Amino acid sequence: MGSGVAQTTTIGVIGAGQMGSGIAQTAAQFGYSVMLADVDIKIAEKGKANIGQALARLVSKDRLPAAEAEALLARITPIADYAPMIGADIIVEAATEREEIKHRIFENAAKVLNPDAILASNTSSIPITRMAARLPDPSRFIGMHFFNPVPVMGLIEVIPGLPTSKETTERASAFARSLGKAVVLAGDEPGFIVNRILVPMLNEAIFVLGAGMGSIEDIDAGCRIGLNHPMGPLTLADFVGLDTLFEIIKVLHETTGDSKYRPAPLLVKYVEAGWIGRKVGRGFYDYTSGTPVPTR
Ligand code: CAA
Ligand code: NAD
Repeated sequence: MGSGVAQTTTIGVIGAGQMGSGIAQTAAQFGYSVMLADVDIKIAEKGKANIGQALARLVSKDRLPAAEAEALLARITPIADYAPMIGADIIVEAATEREEIKHRIFENAAKVLNPDAILASNTSSIPITRMAARLPDPSRFIGMHFFNPVPVMGLIEVIPGLPTSKETTERASAFARSLGKAVVLAGDEPGFIVNRILVPMLNEAIFVLGAGMGSIEDIDAGCRIGLNHPMGPLTLADFVGLDTLFEIIKVLHETTGDSKYRPAPLLVKYVEAGWIGRKVGRGFYDYTSGTPVPTR
């Protein structure tokens, strides 16, 4: 794990779940001070505690000196409201993939966004132009799509909306590169580039399971061994979160009107059961014993 040149720049991260924590960890690793917000301070603190655990694992594997882990963690401040983000150069929203939730967040974030700052959404699918239109200055709104787990994955998709200024796109891209990530510029079309390709594949794997064409383990082994994917599609779906996957496929379906993006009925069932993947201990696999056990 390489750490970057120390900088004094502050960033804000809204949403301290899997992605928000990963973004906060990576930004702090590269020298940024991070204000980490969630719906309440306890969740923001839990997000920071999760980062502490990830760092402790790196320290135990001799991948990170303990002092560096401590300094990195000290750069992350959990916050209860957005006021401390007033000094941030960029605010990254990484809250639940629901448009109405994001709209409420942007309304509040716009109040503390300083006149030079950028507001970026880590949405997996929601059109950037549509969200930008709700902001007082849409030219400073952009999509920055990180990948999970953020500290490990090397890509950020940068997605300018119609009103996004060239300067905002350049600054967001420079920020992404300052985190050691490669940047691809993606058009503001449903799913952008990567999820437009990945999410239908994960949804299709769930159709395959629902049709009884293979067991959970065989579908995963088929793609892991046959395609050399690091994780099978059902493991990856659990890793992403089935709630998030459902929201993404719904956006693809609704915005394109194309029936090929209809959610697999079994995905809907798992979400209805609250079995939404690794973050709750159960999805297509049960993770509670430490070893993943298929749930069908
Ligand atoms: N912080 C820092 N480093 C971390 C980390 C963290 N939070 N989590 C893992 N790592 C490091 C580990 O230390 C380890 O490093 P070394 O090999 O040097 O020791 C390395 O990452 C691999 O971790 P593990 O050994 O624990 O696990 P693994 O070898 O099984 O790899 C994985 C885990 C990287 C997640 C791999 O399985 C993988 O690449 N899976 C596919 C992930 C993927 O496709 N992500 C994209 C999801 S889609 C998306 O993000 C978009 C969307 O909108 C839905
Ligand atoms: P998550 O469920 O792990 O975390 C979402 C967090 O948002 C929770 O901590 C929740 O309390 C918080 N939240 C909800 N409402 C909020 C509000 N009003 N204000 C502040 N915080 C609020 O989800 P995640 O996987 O971290 O996904 C977050 C975003 O990142 C989504 O837009 C998702 O599409 C996107 N994304 C996810 C992945 C992935 O693989 N999971 C990858 C790339 C992008």
